[in-house]
This record gives sequence, C-alpha cells and structure tokens, in this order.
Amino acid sequence: MGEEKKKLFSAVQPSGAVTIGNYIGAIRNFVRLQDEHDCIYAVADLHAITVKQEPAALRRNTLELMALFIACGIDPEKCVLFVQSHVPAHCELTWVLNTIAYPGELSRMTQFKDKSARHADNVNMGLMDYPVLMASDILLYQAALVPVGADQKQHLELTRDLAIRFNNRYSDTFTVPEPFIPKGSGAKIMSLADPTKKMSKSDENPNGFITLSDDKDTIIRKCKRAVTDSGNEVRAAEDKPGVSNLIAIYGAFTGKSAEETEREFAGKGYGDFKVAVGEAIADVLVPMQEEKARILKDKQFLNDVMKKGAEAASRIARRTLSKVYRKVGFYQGE
Ligand code: TYM
Repeated sequence: MGEEKKKLFSAVQPSGAVTIGNYIGAIRNFVRLQDEHDCIYAVADLHAITVKQEPAALRRNTLELMALFIACGIDPEKCVLFVQSHVPAHCELTWVLNTIAYPGELSRMTQFKDKSARHADNVNMGLMDYPVLMASDILLYQAALVPVGADQKQHLELTRDLAIRFNNRYSDTFTVPEPFIPKGSGAKIMSLADPTKKMSKSDENPNGFITLSDDKDTIIRKCKRAVTDSGNEVRAAEDKPGVSNLIAIYGAFTGKSAEETEREFAGKGYGDFKVAVGEAIADVLVPMQEEKARILKDKQFLNDVMKKGAEAASRIARRTLSKVYRKVGFYQGE
C-alpha cells in the first residue's frame, strides 16, 4: 500500500514584481515538491491589499503571477492553483481564528512592525491581521508542510500556536503544520545594494533586487553593480556578506555548491564572477519569461485554471470550515 502524500500549501502576494528572492526561497521549491506531495498554491490577493494597491495593477499582477507560477513549472494538472479571494472560506475561517488570536501576539510580529514603520500613513487592521489570514490559508487545507522563505518563519510559528490553541479548546481539528525552509543561504537572499538587508520588491533602490521580468542586460548590470566586500577573492565568509550572497544566488541558479564556485573562480576577480552570476540567472529567467508571455496571451486558459483551482480548493476548504463551525457551536441544521 502506498503511503499517503503529505498535503502542502503556500502562496505568494501579487503585489508587484516577483524577485529572485521569492523564486529561490519559495517558488522554486513549489515546483520541486509537486511530484511527492498534494500541493495547493494560491495567489494571495487578500493579503496584498493590506498595503495600498492600485486596483488595475492588482488585477494585472494577479493574472501575471498565475502565468508565472505555470511558467516556472507548476503543473496545474498536478497541483491546485487558485486565487485566494475566489475562495470565501479564507475570510470565514479568519473570523473564527480572530477570536482566539491576541492583539499582543499580533503586534509583536516583526513583519507587522516593519510594515507599520514603512507605511506609517496606512497602519490598518488588515496589516495586523495578516498572519491570522495566513494561518487560515494553511489550516483550511490541513497542510502538513508549508514551503516559505526564512522571513515567514515567525508567521508559521503563530499558525502552529493558533492550530494548537483551537485543538485544545475545541478538540482535534487542525493539522499542525511544519515550515519547509530551504537549507543555508537560499532561505534568505539579501539585497544586492545592501547585503545586510533582505532582498525585497519594496526596496526603494531597484538595484537591490532582480525581478523575474528583468531582461538579460538589466540582470547583468545589476549584478555588476552589486555591493561586494573589500578584497578580490571569491569566497563565502561571514565577513564577506556581499560575495557570500552572490555565491548563494549563483548556486541556486547553477546547482553548484559554495566550494565548487570558489574553485571555479580561484584566481579570478569579482568582475568575472559578477558577470557569470548575471549570465547564470539570465539563462534560467529568459526562457521562463518567454513561456510566461506565451501563457499570458491565452487568457481563457488562465481563467479556466483559476476556476478549476477555486472549485477544487473550495471543496477541501468547505469541509474544514464546516467542521470548525460545528465545533464552535454554530447551528447548521439538525
Ligand atoms: P510574499 O509574496 O511576500 O513572498 C513570497 C515568498 O517568498 C519568500 N521570500 C524570500 N525568500 C528568500 N529570500 C528573500 N529575500 C525572500 N523574500 C521573500 C517568502 O518567505 C515567501 O515564502 N505571507 C506570504 C504569502 C502567503 C503565504 C500564505 C505563505 C499568504 N498566505 C500561506 C505561506 C502560507 C509572503 O510573504 O508572501
């Protein structure tokens, strides 16, 4: 008898450009995990509006992210692929979980504190509730595994706390999920402009990040400009955060270990290495961009994928939600 496949859930926000950090930390693993697991992946548009979005751009970005998922290799025949706002159960479970989540724990979340500081003119309830919605995403599907970058670890811990708290109060209901965070430096790709900061699409300096839509010249230019450290030796070390970050990126796109990279560039300087990093990235991204452009032209196909995905996701989510409603005592007919 075959072992039952583990359930897996993850999502990405359609809040603008997707960076190679998102790709290395998360999306790449979505693809790798799809054969061995029951995978459900969402475009997290409900999360995206916790910071200001231009409505037309949000619609466009949602479609683009769906096309990007498929262009990266996520197979809609193998996985459930959907848009979060198409499945109302996410908001419904959030309401219930809100009643067991404490403002103290939510206001302590690092991301809430960072985003509140960055968007001081728009510190809204949604921003604070962001991790509860994230917990709902995961718990609705009884996911055992959640592939994310290191920056989401704290949100995963909160998800686990809420699941355990609910299970203790109302009896066993939710699977308590585990994060799946890439080992080593791939879990947190750093900014090219400031290697002490996480690479982020919201960075004001566009030289700090490479997006999955950047063309080859832009990629190579950004790599050449990447802040490196004193010296000229291609070697991963704690006191060389800039070079170490480029070695991690090079490794992610070529499959080479840090040692192999160090050997390959022994005796060569930063200049040669940076161009090689840019080329390795472009070798992967350019065909992906062509595939994405092709998929985007077929809107009917994308609409069908989203519709089929939302139906499949709803079926699973409804099952969990009705269990939750029963446990908390909502009258559902006798
Ligand atoms: P988002 O869109 O901000 O990020 C998507 C994924 O990319 C990872 N990531 C990185 N990994 C490595 N290095 C980086 N510099 C880097 N920057 C971002 C993030 O960790 C994330 O995995 N809140 C989620 C979206 C979400 C979600 C969920 C995830 C909504 N519901 C349920 C898992 C389960 C987020 O950060 O999206």
